[in-house]
Amino acid sequence: MIRDRRVQYETAGLELSDLDLNPVAQWKLWHDQAHEAGVAEPNSVVLSTVDANGVPDARNLLIRGADAEGFSFFTNYLSAKSRQLQSQPVAAATSSWLDLHRQVRIRGEVTRLSEADSDDYFGSRPRESQLGAWASPQSEILRDRNELEQLLAQVRARFEGSEVPRPPHWGGWLLAPLEVEFWQGRPSRLHDRFRYRRSTTGEWTIDRLAP
Ligand SMILES: Cc1cc2nc3c(=O)[nH]c(=O)nc-3n(C[C@H](O)[C@H](O)[C@H](O)COP(=O)(O)O)c2cc1C
Repeated sequence: MIRDRRVQYETAGLELSDLDLNPVAQWKLWHDQAHEAGVAEPNSVVLSTVDANGVPDARNLLIRGADAEGFSFFTNYLSAKSRQLQSQPVAAATSSWLDLHRQVRIRGEVTRLSEADSDDYFGSRPRESQLGAWASPQSEILRDRNELEQLLAQVRARFEGSEVPRPPHWGGWLLAPLEVEFWQGRPSRLHDRFRYRRSTTGEWTIDRLAP
């Protein structure tokens, strides 16, 4: 029975003194530990957005960069998520490293990455993924699978023998964090939670939250 299934989180726990003063550096540390522990797709997050009517939406995607500016990810600029980000430039991203009994919640403001950064990342993708970015009208209705295959065949023919440039409708977004919470599971649901908040002057303060 789902309601009777319980995992005890026997972990060492988390103290303020364990944390890096910068939440992006702390996320990277936990990400690397998840990678080393063999967690599948440790850079995947659930990205939550809100549409023009204030209705939330969420989907997995891959974080491709984490630095002083924030977290970057790449997608189709005409997709549902990008349209939502255009009208409401805020988002939340959630990392779930359940094998390690860890969760991170990031909330912040979203802006488009520069053309140069998007070109740079697009250039590093495998050719088939580059072609896919041209072929797929992400989030649009398809008649059937064959329609997608035909779109791909057209794109393949168009770029035969040449490099695939970045489509103008494809690129990156940057999530600049304002709040980041690190959650470490502990026995009997008395988990450890620490939330970083960014002041207007850019410093981070850290508070322990009740589980
Ligand atoms: C593990 C995983 C990673 C994904 N990574 C990406 C990604 O990096 N970029 C992307 O556009 N979609 C990615 N997707 C697909 C999205 O979840 C989603 O289906 C797609 O972006 C369309 O979302 P939208 O209609 O809300 O715009 C990923 C899905 C999974 C399950």
